[in-house]
Amino acid sequence: MPVIALIGGQWGDEGKGKIVDMLAEQSQLTVRFSGGDNAGHTVINPSGEFRLHLVPSGIFHPGVSCIIGNGVVVNPEVLLKEMEQLQAAGVKTDRLYVSERAHIIMPYHLLFDALEEERLGVRALGTTRRGIGPAFADKVARQGIRACDLLDKQAFRNRLSSVLESKNAILTRVYGVTPLSEEAIYSQYVGYGERMAHLVRDTEQIIHDEIRKGSLILLEGAQGSLLDVDFGTYPYVTSSSPLAGNGCLGAGIGPRHIKAVIGVFKAYSTRVGSGPMPTELKDEIGQNIRERAQEFGATTGRPRRCGWFDGIASRFAARLNGFTGAALTRLDILDTFPVVKICVGYRFNGQTLTSFPSNGRVLEECQPVYEELEGWQAPTSHITEFARLPLRARRYIRRLEELISCPVAIISVGPRREQTIKVRRLI
Ligand code: GDP
Ligand code: IMO
Ligand code: MG
Repeated sequence: MPVIALIGGQWGDEGKGKIVDMLAEQSQLTVRFSGGDNAGHTVINPSGEFRLHLVPSGIFHPGVSCIIGNGVVVNPEVLLKEMEQLQAAGVKTDRLYVSERAHIIMPYHLLFDALEEERLGVRALGTTRRGIGPAFADKVARQGIRACDLLDKQAFRNRLSSVLESKNAILTRVYGVTPLSEEAIYSQYVGYGERMAHLVRDTEQIIHDEIRKGSLILLEGAQGSLLDVDFGTYPYVTSSSPLAGNGCLGAGIGPRHIKAVIGVFKAYSTRVGSGPMPTELKDEIGQNIRERAQEFGATTGRPRRCGWFDGIASRFAARLNGFTGAALTRLDILDTFPVVKICVGYRFNGQTLTSFPSNGRVLEECQPVYEELEGWQAPTSHITEFARLPLRARRYIRRLEELISCPVAIISVGPRREQTIKVRRLI
């Protein structure tokens, strides 16, 4: 059996957590490969309702091992708290492992994230302030501290001492704030190291052993393709790659093992944080979607910006990832609308663009060109077969498939596992 990647096709919060929780039942391993606790994956199942930031959404199935891969940046405090919350709800976390190579979010990363956002003022990126950008920047700048370092006290002391000297110089001389205490960070993080020691493993080896055994492995994407550091709406992006290609790098597997790449799309669009979003609705309809769907961030609680499905942005995402299929979520949210719209082009400077511009200023000025379809105006949350969906809902889905050039394999009509229509096999 193969590796299947599940990837956010828009600006995040597409419902990846629900889809992974639902599919994990048949898998042996679920792996997070990118981002950090900026992710917020909602899972509602018989164990309860959860918002997972670091722990993979396969954790609820007793036979499934879960890996936080080398491509994730880990805040130990958040991870330990999340594990405690799961255990308190009766969910076992004894099959959870963290890569020795995963980078650790340090107190100065959180501080720099907030200081930079404050410095930017109205131009702030709207980050989750979880220290994600500074932690990935340090990884690439070779100033990072990894999970394996926390377990080696002497090496950690030396490394921290050297890195903190540079961080404190920036904190005091550039931002004019008080320096951080090496002693305090050292003892706090050695403590985390001790509490995490049983989790930290050569996870690449675990994944390879499962591949050899023929297990089904799910790569759980975080964020969404349009937040990718290379291809997203730069600089309003996150600092790692949510794309399927990074599923290989962030887990330590070769591309040939990924047999299916499933794009998770909402039936409309949302975005949280700053940056261009061509189909954003600042009117009553946008407000309606937000209220009906309770579109508030799972990590920060911020209201999400809402709009119609963007066929141009979504097709771009489908190409970047090579989606072999799609999971379409939150179809039920559109149940009450008399008209549903799909963006099929952008008007810019008297021309109609059909590809996604790289220049953020252009994107900010693009006016969406919409195709209007009749709404189905009937409830769908109870439906479990494609053929039983209202004809107009099926037409809407067929049009989305054409635009993203891949078949919809799963349709989600509610947040619970059973509120799912399986249309076709994933592989
Ligand atoms: P993720 O970050 O991609 O895992 O998505 P989030 O959990 O941040 O946001 C998705 C939200 O949609 C959560 O509140 C889910 O419970 C909810 N959800 C997922 N699928 C459906 C669906 O088909 N219908 C409805 N109404 N809610 C859904
Ligand atoms: P999931 O996995 C939605 C957004 C932030 C901000 C930008 C940069 O739940 O889909 P960062 O803290 O990463 O430096 O912030 O990226 N962002 C997300 N938006 N869902 C997410 O994750 C996100 N993770 C980051 O809001 O605009
Ligand atoms: Mg989310």
